[in-house]
Amino acid sequence: MSWNQWVRQIHRWLSIAFTVGVVVNIVHIVAWGGEEPAVWVYLLALLPLALLLFTGLYLFVLPYATRWRGGRRGSGRRPPCPAGSRSAGVEVTAIPEGAQ
Ligand code: HEM
Repeated sequence: MSWNQWVRQIHRWLSIAFTVGVVVNIVHIVAWGGEEPAVWVYLLALLPLALLLFTGLYLFVLPYATRWRGGRRGSGRRPPCPAGSRSAGVEVTAIPEGAQ
């Protein structure tokens, strides 16, 4: 797996950790009758969120950085077809007379 795919996977799983952290915070507040949770309960959601920010910004910049470096990935353009305008996989050897 490439570095970029690793960052995407980490971002993905951090989003689950963040969601669980938010749920724990809500359950805590409800169970303790609206009392403010301890700092470590806040951190359960805040730490994944902070990491989500960095990995998310990395993922955001990625397609632009690829373009700046002259790559084609993420440009939205398809590479030119080597067979020209004819459909791929169909080899045209001769056009029968009167077919044009
Ligand atoms: C904190 C700031 C965040 C930033 C800057 C950010 C940014 C991004 C970017 C740029 C992408 C890639 C989009 C693409 O390639 O089309 C992404 C994907 C994603 N983000 Fe975030 N994100 C943030 C927070 C979150 C949060 C809070 C969640 C969910 C709780 C989340 C869940 C996801 C998921 C599930 C993906 C798709 C990952 C995949 O392709 O497998 N992100 N995010």
